[in-house]
Amino acid sequence: MFPIHEVRKSFPALKQAGENFIFFDNAAGAQMPKQALDAVAEHLLLRNVQRGGPYRQSREVDAAIARARESVAIFLNARQPEEVCFGMNATSFIRLVSMAIGQKLRASRNEIIVTDLDHESNIATWLALRANGAKIIWWKMRRDGRLHAEDLDPLLSKKTRIVACPLASNSLGSILDVAEVSRRAHAHGAEVFVDCVHYGPHGPIDVQALDCDYLVCSGYKIFGPHMGFLWGRKQLLDGLPTFREDFIPDTAPAKFEVGTYVYENVAGMDAALAYIENLGKRFSPTTSGRRVLILKAMEAIRDYEASLSAEFLRALASVENVVAYGITDPAAVLQRTPTFCFNVKNKSASDVATRLAKQGIAVRNGNMYSPRVMKRLKIRAADGAVRASLVHYNTADEIHRFARALRRISKA
Ligand SMILES: Cc1ncc(COP(=O)(O)O)c(C=O)c1O
Repeated sequence: MFPIHEVRKSFPALKQAGENFIFFDNAAGAQMPKQALDAVAEHLLLRNVQRGGPYRQSREVDAAIARARESVAIFLNARQPEEVCFGMNATSFIRLVSMAIGQKLRASRNEIIVTDLDHESNIATWLALRANGAKIIWWKMRRDGRLHAEDLDPLLSKKTRIVACPLASNSLGSILDVAEVSRRAHAHGAEVFVDCVHYGPHGPIDVQALDCDYLVCSGYKIFGPHMGFLWGRKQLLDGLPTFREDFIPDTAPAKFEVGTYVYENVAGMDAALAYIENLGKRFSPTTSGRRVLILKAMEAIRDYEASLSAEFLRALASVENVVAYGITDPAAVLQRTPTFCFNVKNKSASDVATRLAKQGIAVRNGNMYSPRVMKRLKIRAADGAVRASLVHYNTADEIHRFARALRRISKA
């Protein structure tokens, strides 16, 4: 049994907002467990100083960053902590890596494959490399709202430099078989860049099993504060040209962490991962291995969320005039995260979202920074869709209350 009551108690914001308030906008940023909030406050109170000094507080900052790096490495199953770089957000890391790749682009291998299912942050920056001579090849989602790895085959060649793709879509929730993408791309000598931002809070991540080359996450979607992290194969990161002052080592992570970032948020991220590890103890009380505990927790989260997805799809289907996008079969919930885009016929998405907000239900409307998905689904660009995005602290009861509210809106 998933310990939902204990989980909800771990997130003070849920109580603060009132038991009746429903957080269904988690794909834009999730709430934080108490220990992560405490870690941020403690960092600011006890060691709000610059790293690299010889005094106690500064050494503690260095130690906190090193500890967080190790925790993120375990969370991702990285080969070594030095493969993990900390920064402001995922977008700036995608940009940093793409610009570095652009600088060294050769005419003999200048093709970049991008998808029309991604968040624009993993598209626009690659498109900008046309100025460096890149040829862009589009990998299109099928009508089922999914990217199929076999569709890559005709797009790949010895000219492919990199495939940029999501692990899961932030608009439709569809999950991509990235291990299969890596297998096919590597067979042509191409690299794979994965946007893991949306998938991050929803299931286990194993960069070695995915066999990708780069991967980015946003901490604030994985129950941490606003920050982002980049993972890459050490040798590849070390080989990319980045801007750095001469005295900064030309190796990861230092070369990707030029300047000061938000140390208290790195400490908060570490604590958010400790929360996940602790949750793993509920499922494996005798285990002490950190990776195993994180895996147990993330597998339990994935399975619990699959039951929420099935419930949500049934609820959506029960409301008249609702058009749901992407995977709608309750039997296929393991192919998606609990993130749902939908519209109500003859009602604007902004009207539906505003009315839900008035009833204490937080959802989002618009294009979800995925205007190409909206276009493919023939959704009016100006209006977009409504998105409800759940995480493991949401409940079936909230889904039922949401469905009742949506029914009232649909009939109005
Ligand atoms: C799939 C996906 N990629 C990238 C981003 C951008 O992340 P960040 O805000 O960390 O730059 C988001 C943000 O919502 C996202 O959902």
